[in-house]
Amino acid sequence: MEQTVIFPSGSVQYFHSVQLEELLENYKGRDIIFLTDSNIAALYPQFFAGKKTVVILPGETNKNLNTIDDVGRQMLQYEATRNTLLLGIGGGMVTDITGLAAATYMRGIAAAFVPTTLLGMADAAIGGKNGVNSGVYKNMIGTIRQPEFIAYDIRFLKTLPDDEWSNGFAEIIKYACLFDTELFETLSAKNINWFKTHSDDLQSVINTCVYWKNKTVAEDEHESGMRKLLNFGHTAAHAIENLYGLPHGKAVSIGMVIAATLSEQLTGFGADDTLRLKKLLMQYNLPISYPIDSKKAVDILKMDKKRNNNTISYILLNNIGIATIKALPFDILEKAIETCALQYSREQ
Ligand SMILES: NC(=O)c1ccc[n+]([C@@H]2O[C@H](COP(=O)([O-])OP(=O)(O)OC[C@H]3O[C@@H](n4cnc5c(N)ncnc54)[C@H](O)[C@@H]3O)[C@@H](O)[C@H]2O)c1
Repeated sequence: MEQTVIFPSGSVQYFHSVQLEELLENYKGRDIIFLTDSNIAALYPQFFAGKKTVVILPGETNKNLNTIDDVGRQMLQYEATRNTLLLGIGGGMVTDITGLAAATYMRGIAAAFVPTTLLGMADAAIGGKNGVNSGVYKNMIGTIRQPEFIAYDIRFLKTLPDDEWSNGFAEIIKYACLFDTELFETLSAKNINWFKTHSDDLQSVINTCVYWKNKTVAEDEHESGMRKLLNFGHTAAHAIENLYGLPHGKAVSIGMVIAATLSEQLTGFGADDTLRLKKLLMQYNLPISYPIDSKKAVDILKMDKKRNNNTISYILLNNIGIATIKALPFDILEKAIETCALQYSREQ
């Protein structure tokens, strides 16, 4: 199924439920450089054999400007021109690198994404944000620029490790908390094994997230308002990811619990709803606490893009499915992170 989604800066073609080899047939006349990581290149050699391919090292520690530089050099060796399409096939790390490399090569060439992780399909590949990390600071250097197309071939998920399924569900649970009580109920009634064996249900959950992300980004592409909501769970997560090297999804899971605890204090979010959220996260094998050094975390958060003097713009929940943004003083945030660390030591 094809769908065109219109954003202020341009439109993106969505190809849902495709087989990648068939889709590529339609692009035969086009100069394409494939970009992937070494895990995907090894698992799916059929997509890259005989093609101009740039293979990067996987992992968050390689999501930096050095990798962008390497990609640029290899594109030059392949004699990429302004008409070349840079096609990223991989998880959120690969699609972020692809987007930024394409945005900067010769001041901008076309990019397209084929997400291969659940997290990439439900979130990272969508919305045009492409960033790399700078030292401990997450996604500090980047652009907002839409790809030409995003194609979904969920067969890739057959090789996805269990841990990456959990990471993907963290972002899916985020959409349920922000916008969609029905999605929250659906997820509560099922688990990872169910979705692994019921591809229609999985596709439907992914499509729901695609809908919510596109709707939000179409209304506020440059994150001056509504798009900020998508940072639910992410502010604390960025500090946790960088201090402890936790995968994005797991850090977001802990970040959502911190945000729910803060919501109880600041918006009247129900304690029973925090419990429902924790139960759901555990159902998807996600952590709900961590021994975070709250001072170090807050020091990192003081460099966050959402800081404003002594407060930080924080996404809280009024209810499951209804979110709000509040200016949060750093000392209150530090206390909530401490509570999360205390909870961890109680659970041990
Ligand atoms: N741009 C955005 O809007 C946005 C949103 C959310 C997350 N992100 C970014 O996305 C990244 C996380 O993405 P991710 O969770 O997809 O991680 P990832 O890209 O690092 O992939 C996780 C691991 O899974 C492997 N992998 C990927 N697909 C596979 C498959 N089909 N089979 C087997 N192994 C596979 C990868 O090689 C890697 O080792 C972070 O850098 C995060 O900042 C970006």
